[in-house]
Amino acid sequence: MKNIAILGFGTVGAGVADVIAASHNKICREIHDVVNVKYILDLKDFPESKYADRVVHDFDIILNDPEVEIICETMGGTKVAFDYTMRALSAGKSVVTSNKEVVAAYGKLLCDVAREKGVRYLYEASVGGGIPILRTIKTSLAANEIYGIDGILNGTTNYILTHMKDDGTSFAEALSQAQQKGYAELNPKADVDGDDACRKICILAALAFGTMISQSSVNCEGISSVTLDTIEKAEKFGGSIKLIASARKMKGEKIDISVSPCVVSNENPLSNVSDVFNAIMIHAQHLGDVMMYGRGAGKLPTASAVLSDIIEIIKSGKGSEQETWTIADPGTLSDNFKVFDTFCIYVPYSFGARKEKVLSLFGNTTESFEDADGFGFIVENISRNKIRKALHSIDVKDYSVFRYIK
Ligand code: HSE
Repeated sequence: MKNIAILGFGTVGAGVADVIAASHNKICREIHDVVNVKYILDLKDFPESKYADRVVHDFDIILNDPEVEIICETMGGTKVAFDYTMRALSAGKSVVTSNKEVVAAYGKLLCDVAREKGVRYLYEASVGGGIPILRTIKTSLAANEIYGIDGILNGTTNYILTHMKDDGTSFAEALSQAQQKGYAELNPKADVDGDDACRKICILAALAFGTMISQSSVNCEGISSVTLDTIEKAEKFGGSIKLIASARKMKGEKIDISVSPCVVSNENPLSNVSDVFNAIMIHAQHLGDVMMYGRGAGKLPTASAVLSDIIEIIKSGKGSEQETWTIADPGTLSDNFKVFDTFCIYVPYSFGARKEKVLSLFGNTTESFEDADGFGFIVENISRNKIRKALHSIDVKDYSVFRYIK
């Protein structure tokens, strides 16, 4: 029998217990053994739950029980979650987690401790909810250099943008629905401000490029400034507004990472990713572009990813070495404002901006549309800094710019 302990009996933790119960036979067939949830650590009791007799409040009970080989950290937050994870790994127990905050902040340290102790620290559920993206990068794409990743990595914001666009739901109402469905973080500011997507793209970049960029050095913009008007403008540009997290290898080993609302062209499959779904498009050396799509948040999808790690640990036994990464040197991250890309620019007529004069500043423009309030156009191969400089040169300071994903 393989005994596990679940730390935190919230949405994901309860999902892990439910998946183990619902798929008991399938899991037994996979591991040729039985998985047993021996303990559930939480501040609360759950007297109505069928697991009520396994609830404990003292982590040391779990730590000191030699029968517990795998600990499943689904607590959220960083302080206590990191402390328990460190203590568990140091005591020779493997840990699996859905906690992207801990992985993004302390992943390198925890992987190193796991490697030293001959155990595993796995975090498939920390990115893309149920989508098996990390294992795919590590195994199926192992022969490819990864050139870049563009992803919709936050289910809550994608849910909000989808419902604002499709049903005219207000931002606040859509967020409240996402909270009720168990998609949002405890503090949904992390979703709305892009921090959650930022953590996930940093984790993806660490695996894809072998180097972890600190989340705090990434330029991260969320969706709080996106209005129904922005969504309509994106449609006029021939696309949809999506919160896109990107990581790209640039010349000279620099890495470009960004999180921002972008206009995704209707021809790009990412534009059809709606509701809580996530999708990750990987630009790989030999394979070319490949996209994985699935539920990016929610109880059972996320628990499915947690279970995949538990099963991997049991199946590989001590025979598999923990992967790790390096921490990027300062200066590895490129300045987003200097990166050349394609941008959608909208200039309102207020303050006297003249279309011909504005367009004459840019070489490669596609004039997309004109409406009662202003005009929009797309420029290729330009940086945000150059756009600002050009427009400021004719005193146009009131404009909006979105990266365009073709
Ligand atoms: N709040 C996260 C999201 C949960 O909405 O994507 C899954 O990581």
